[in-house]
Amino acid sequence: MIVVIFVALLTLLAVYKGKWVRNQNLKLYIGATVLAIIAFLLEDKVKIFEPFVQGFLGLSFFYIVMMTGALKKKSKLRIKFAGIRREYSILGFIFITPHALKYFVEYLNGEIALEWWGVATYLVMLPLFITSFMVIRKKMSRNAWVYLQKLAYVSYITLFIHLILNASNTPNLVVYLLLFVPYISMKIYREILEYTSKKKVLETT
Ligand code: HEM
Repeated sequence: MIVVIFVALLTLLAVYKGKWVRNQNLKLYIGATVLAIIAFLLEDKVKIFEPFVQGFLGLSFFYIVMMTGALKKKSKLRIKFAGIRREYSILGFIFITPHALKYFVEYLNGEIALEWWGVATYLVMLPLFITSFMVIRKKMSRNAWVYLQKLAYVSYITLFIHLILNASNTPNLVVYLLLFVPYISMKIYREILEYTSKKKVLETT
């Protein structure tokens, strides 16, 4: 349930303080990394770090990133989200890493089975994370970068399956459905609109 609160807060941050997020991005990445390390180390002892390690905060960042592409083109919210998309995807990845590590360590200790859908999501997101940084992006051709971005859709599908299979209670399951079903419907609708408008342009030329 906490995901709903995080998504609302991150939306407000994007709308009212987007410029600040962009300007302070490096400081935010460093702060997030320090926090993620502390959360990973102290999760058992300090209750407040649980949402970090349980994956709720990382998921909330990714949800805004996902939603950006599904919103109406030129809508105010899409423009605001597009302005911080890169920062949120980097912060999401930083905050999801303690979660991935915790369950990977538990798997190595023989405490749990490996959660393959989670691992697949993380591995698909890894190249996207690395190429989010301008220094690396500049070394890639535009086509290669655009092609790589399409991998994000694969990670959204594996993430959805991961959440549905691992929701720890019914309210959480309902939240995941309420987040992903509108996303999937809106994204398909947007793609159909884009396809038909491109087709019209081709027919008239
Ligand atoms: C980037 C991707 C990932 C995201 C966004 C993510 C997100 C989440 C969230 C939000 C939950 C909580 C579900 C709930 O309690 O309702 C969860 C559960 C879980 N995740 Fe992930 N996860 C990711 C990757 C991984 C990876 C890489 C692993 C394993 C190495 C993993 C293992 C698990 C396990 C075992 C649970 C169940 C925890 C429990 O029983 O309380 N996840 N994940």
